[in-house]
Amino acid sequence: MLTKTATPTPLAQMLTHGRAGTDTLFGLVRPEALYERPVPERHRLIFYFGHLEAFDWNLIGQPAAVPSFSPEFDQLFAFGIDPKPGHTQQDERSDWPEIAEVRAYNRRVRQTLDDVLNQTSEQLLSIALEHRLMHAETFAYLLHSLSIDQKHIPFVASFPQSAAPIQVMLEIPGGTVTLGQPRKDVSGKNRFGWDNEFESHDASVASFAMSKYKVTNGEYLKFVRAGANPPHFWKWHEGQWYWRGMWEDVPLPLDWPVYATYEEASAFAAWAGKRLPTEAEFHRAAYGTVRGEEERAYPWGDEEPDSRRGNFGGNRWDPISVTATPLGDSAFGVSQLVGNGWEWTSTAFQPFPGFHTFSCYPGYSARFFDGDHYVLKGASPRTDARLLRRSFRNWFRPNFPYLYSGFRCVEV
Ligand SMILES: [Fe+2]
Repeated sequence: MLTKTATPTPLAQMLTHGRAGTDTLFGLVRPEALYERPVPERHRLIFYFGHLEAFDWNLIGQPAAVPSFSPEFDQLFAFGIDPKPGHTQQDERSDWPEIAEVRAYNRRVRQTLDDVLNQTSEQLLSIALEHRLMHAETFAYLLHSLSIDQKHIPFVASFPQSAAPIQVMLEIPGGTVTLGQPRKDVSGKNRFGWDNEFESHDASVASFAMSKYKVTNGEYLKFVRAGANPPHFWKWHEGQWYWRGMWEDVPLPLDWPVYATYEEASAFAAWAGKRLPTEAEFHRAAYGTVRGEEERAYPWGDEEPDSRRGNFGGNRWDPISVTATPLGDSAFGVSQLVGNGWEWTSTAFQPFPGFHTFSCYPGYSARFFDGDHYVLKGASPRTDARLLRRSFRNWFRPNFPYLYSGFRCVEV
């Protein structure tokens, strides 16, 4: 029989590591600011403090028949929100429990679940782990929108700025791409992926041209000067544009990718006489090969991700120059298809053929197949390297402005 002293499985160890990461993130918020709601369409920060443990409890504790010690908190912290813009929450600060109560709940959840982690399936542990890693990123969006005096500022290395690059369009030859992933690996073992990553299927892509770099702030500035509204991450101050950084505002770096909504990205592309890529075109540019060999695991090849290949994995809080990581280029020479900001595609988020929900988490994807969410591919500076797998799909509403998401244009 497994006991408390049994060696944790690798996934259980990763979950423990993930907990330390999210603890560090919550520690960056000054305590009273946990009751702030920096993004109107999301919960107050205190919700997320309780949500990660309540989610794990509801996912792992309930199937293991572990008796609940706080059904009220299990329910209060169970679900996040994604309302249409303008449909914001009306709750009060006093509707939420004190920080010490939530901290005590979190501690007890962890202690109790730790006793059953070694008997928990790999699928449930993977869901718990990746759910936490995804929240670590989306919590960064909320933290970004929190005023700087409400945060504990860590030491942050600066990054040299360079001139905006000359944008070029690269020819991407047509070919077949594989979307999604198979449910089993070659040895017949179940592969982990979220419900929306199945089934694996091929799609045919015609030739097109794609910009080598993500659209930069410098390029978008011309659009703003032509009359477009500035994106959320820009701020006009004393006659100059600034980037709203995580820890400080800096003069707008013209060589960084612009972070924009789907609507802004689409409008820019139309203004430039181009369009956004489809999800399949993104795959072709990112994972296709020149001579038609098997698609790559990552744009740069099959080597595991590291910081030389791109700005992902939580090493930085803000973007870097679009030219900074040439070692991450795809076979066709396209830069930063993974890292330094997600990229909008023109593909509405819909299930792949053969999709079915996870019984343990039926709403993960299915409640977003409403035609009002679009697929994003790639990764941001705050995306964990585990989520860089080729089949991973992200999605958001077309006008949600708080994301670390940019875009690039294509033309036929
Ligand atoms: Fe969640």
